[in-house]
Amino acid sequence: MTPSSDDRDAGNAGDSDRPVSDAAIQPAGGLDAPVIAALQNDVFPKQRWGESEVAQLIDGPGAIAFLATGRDFGEVMPLAFVLARIAADEAEILTLGVLQDVRGKGLGRRLVEAVADKARAQGARRLHLEVAARNTAARDLYANLQFSEVGRREAYYDDRGDGPDDAILLARDLR
Ligand SMILES: CC(C)(COP(=O)(O)OP(=O)(O)OC[C@H]1O[C@@H](n2cnc3c(N)ncnc32)[C@H](O)[C@@H]1OP(=O)(O)O)[C@@H](O)C(=O)NCCC(=O)NCCS
Repeated sequence: MTPSSDDRDAGNAGDSDRPVSDAAIQPAGGLDAPVIAALQNDVFPKQRWGESEVAQLIDGPGAIAFLATGRDFGEVMPLAFVLARIAADEAEILTLGVLQDVRGKGLGRRLVEAVADKARAQGARRLHLEVAARNTAARDLYANLQFSEVGRREAYYDDRGDGPDDAILLARDLR
């Protein structure tokens, strides 16, 4: 995951009362690529992904993708997503995003747990990811979910006004 500096600041919890308690988390497929690309580009405006890039990822070998949706006045609304990949017995979260106005309501946690459960069921023994050092919301989320620091890439993320940032490599066992 390589969120830009602006993206890294985007972790604040939303203050809306938009209900997400009934949010559904479902496996996503290639047909969900446009929705997931739109979510990715909303959450990470400096790291835009095209629909075909997302579709290739989702349809690629070892892909794990989940989409969280809620109902707003009866209409199904996409709220959050996660993309991950398994290779041999290692899994990696590639990107995770929750729309700003529904943050702090448990969706990020549910999505990471969904990936962990599916990766474990498919034989993965470790789950890896990468997070910007200044992304405190995401780092707290992962710490809460028993991820530990296993490495650091200094000044990995570009300087976009607040100086370059380190990438922290995190992992957790899936047994
Ligand atoms: C990081 C992100 C995915 C968290 O999703 P979320 O749905 O808001 O998180 P949750 O409501 O599931 O929170 C779970 C835990 O994360 C931590 N957390 C979440 N938001 C936080 C914040 N703003 N500040 C501090 N800790 C936070 C807390 O430990 C929280 O546990 P608690 O509710 O028991 O306090 C979301 O803020 C986001 O999409 N940020 C922008 C994109 C991004 O940074 N993605 C990850 C890149 S590695």
